[in-house]
Amino acid sequence: MRLPPGPEEPTAINVDRETLVRLQSLQKTYGNMIFVTAPNGRQTIFVNDADEVRRILVRRHSKYGKGRGFKRVEMLLGNGLIVSDGDVWRRARTMIQPAFSRQNVHKLIETMVVCCESRAAHWASVAEAGQTLTITREMSEFALELILRSIFGEDYDTHIDIDGENPFAFLSQESARDLSVVVKVRNLREFLREIINNRKSSAAPEQYDFLSMYISATDKSGNHFSDRELIDELITLIVAGYETSAGTLNWAWYLIANHSAVEGKLLEEAQEILSSTNNISFESVAAMNYSQQMLEETLRLYPPVWIYSRKSLQEDSLTNFDIPADADIFFSPYILHRTDKYWSDPEQFDPDRFGADSPYKKGDRPYYPFSLGPRRCLGEYFSFLEMKIHLGMLIQRFRMIDEAGKFPGLDLGINLRSDSDIILRPELR
Ligand code: HEM
Repeated sequence: MRLPPGPEEPTAINVDRETLVRLQSLQKTYGNMIFVTAPNGRQTIFVNDADEVRRILVRRHSKYGKGRGFKRVEMLLGNGLIVSDGDVWRRARTMIQPAFSRQNVHKLIETMVVCCESRAAHWASVAEAGQTLTITREMSEFALELILRSIFGEDYDTHIDIDGENPFAFLSQESARDLSVVVKVRNLREFLREIINNRKSSAAPEQYDFLSMYISATDKSGNHFSDRELIDELITLIVAGYETSAGTLNWAWYLIANHSAVEGKLLEEAQEILSSTNNISFESVAAMNYSQQMLEETLRLYPPVWIYSRKSLQEDSLTNFDIPADADIFFSPYILHRTDKYWSDPEQFDPDRFGADSPYKKGDRPYYPFSLGPRRCLGEYFSFLEMKIHLGMLIQRFRMIDEAGKFPGLDLGINLRSDSDIILRPELR
């Protein structure tokens, strides 16, 4: 077999800082395709060659299953879309996909505006008092509220956010997916079962929401999701949908506060296109090209899913190397997005890379914060809409000051977060 080069000694690939440092150092020695034997003896290949990543995730996807990295989140996500494989995944994806059509996601624009307005009201009182905002926590709360309102619609106010006791709040606070959350997860599943039963026995809500789409979805034999499947899919949607967008917005505000020219261009665009909430429509948001570029560049530097895995189901032959059957495969958008073979001056924050004149043409960019192929993120369009509306509305009202003036560091867990909270002082414009 033509195995890629790599070190003799056993080498672990996990979701932690040591893994990033190790992979970056191996990349210097061995290049963009590396073979290692894990301490448990498993054959493991790190793929950082843009063409081979594409080959595995898109053209040869049927030869690969979800990797062992996802097993860790099974306790929380059950057999929902992120974890499942094969026919179970295919059936669920086909049933869920229509909820994410552009047409349906546009029905959630009003919900996005409501969440931004309530954030703006809170930020205004903080600005008037001359206080600071813990942006990291603000973005977590914002994205969690938005995904919950998008799923539960009117039930959010009546059943979920009552007396300040949001049963989903621990999802935004607890980073550990370990035994300490078992009881909370069990209680959450019970709570979801009640909401589902309640919704099934009541009239359809007037407002569009994901819950009604998921409940009415049918497979090709006309069957609905069971309650257990529904609960797995709802928890999957919450976890997939908030931490990623929250993390991106957290970095986006940090970058805006530290790059005044970028801030100026975003402000100009928002004032021109989104000057009042009446102007917020999918057409106007689609015209926010600079905000799109800025967010794409934020995701290049800080992709929330910074590493993920697959498992080879059979042998495969790539351009220069072979992949053995039953090997663990790892990809890291964080490393690929900073590889200078693919990006010029990769450590530099420069939204113009994604402009119309950029040499990085859409479609063949060495860029995959949302993964590629059939397992590509379902929420990409939703998240850009959410993030552009959020930045566009809030930047018009607030200038963000970074008084710490210090890089917050990286926390490399299942998701990439800032190591210390990002704290900014809002000033009213
Ligand atoms: C900046 C925001 C986001 C990023 C960077 C992101 C990234 C990703 C990535 C990398 C995957 C695929 C992992 C793999 O191939 O193994 C994924 C899958 C998924 N994402 Fe996202 N995501 C984001 C936002 C969202 C949102 C807002 C939602 C829902 C509203 C969502 C729902 C999903 C779902 C359901 C999957 C599983 C798809 C499948 O396996 O069929 N994501 N996401």
